[in-house]
Amino acid sequence: MNDEEKQDDKELDEALKNAIKEAEEAENSRILYEAKMRFLGRMGIVMNFMKRMKDIPPEKRPSFGKQINALRDKLEAEFAAREERLKKREMQKKIETEKIDVTMPGKRTAKGALHPVTLVKNQLVDIFAGMGFEIFEGPEIETDYYNFTALNTPADHPARDMQDTFYISDNLLLRTQTSAAQIRAMEKKKPPIKMLSPGRVFRSDDDATHSPMFHQMEGLVVDRGITMCDLKGMLDEFARTMFSGNSKTRLRPSYFPFTEPSVEVDVSCSACGGKGCSLCKGTGWIEVLGAGIVNRRVLENCGIDADEYSGFAFGMGVERIAMLKYGINNIKLLTENDTRFLGQFKEEN
Ligand code: PHE
Repeated sequence: MNDEEKQDDKELDEALKNAIKEAEEAENSRILYEAKMRFLGRMGIVMNFMKRMKDIPPEKRPSFGKQINALRDKLEAEFAAREERLKKREMQKKIETEKIDVTMPGKRTAKGALHPVTLVKNQLVDIFAGMGFEIFEGPEIETDYYNFTALNTPADHPARDMQDTFYISDNLLLRTQTSAAQIRAMEKKKPPIKMLSPGRVFRSDDDATHSPMFHQMEGLVVDRGITMCDLKGMLDEFARTMFSGNSKTRLRPSYFPFTEPSVEVDVSCSACGGKGCSLCKGTGWIEVLGAGIVNRRVLENCGIDADEYSGFAFGMGVERIAMLKYGINNIKLLTENDTRFLGQFKEEN
């Protein structure tokens, strides 16, 4: 072996030693991969040895080539072994840190509930749908005509003051009552009519029992021979289903431009059974809705022959019914979205 060959041998040996050292010291697969590329990559140390081949005398090339191949094989084996160990260690670590404790209690998802106004609205719809009423919804933005004029409430009518109206323009307003839907229903359909119209209404009014937005439920029946008796019978049935099996109703004379005669309907107090308590302010009765026999002028406004047909109409506040039914003393609780309050109401079956 001449000096040059000895030098080559030494370099190859050193490369092997360095590679083994780097492989041993690599802490993770990424560092190991980088080291491997330094030795075995396309620009790596082994490749550099190969490139030297052309400067070596031809008769020495085979043995030099063998040496390089042997070095490459050793390095490949070395890196592969180290890689295997590192992978195992990394997997072990992953298994330990990502361990799932299957005995930990799960996270509970809170269950939502229907809003008391929705509950009462659904109950009302159920009660009246059961009596054959059809749902008919009108728009929340109404014209003056449907909200007032057609309901026998012309511009100078004092009854307009009863309902502080939000006007959008001279002619457009936020409806103050679902009664506007009576007109729309009668324009669309000829008698017999039996319709129920739930929806939001708006009035410039705000205290513990009034809110600028609330819900009403309107009912309208038009047919031949409809009388106050039909209204009373239907109301008794409604009170029994909504409040309690022995609830009674009482009619008191009242005034609405679109009904004649008009009544205010009281239901016997379900808290005291009619004896008198704080809820009914000692009277034994609670006012729940307005109603009456449809004014013949209203029928005529809708092209219905008032000599042939008659009808009754009623309108109730959904919030008011909910407050009475559940003993809620402030209407604001219904719009505050406090889940501690709202979570108390459960659907009745
Ligand atoms: N619209 C009336 C109100 O809002 C209620 C009502 C409806 C009265 C139908 C009579 C007939 O006060």
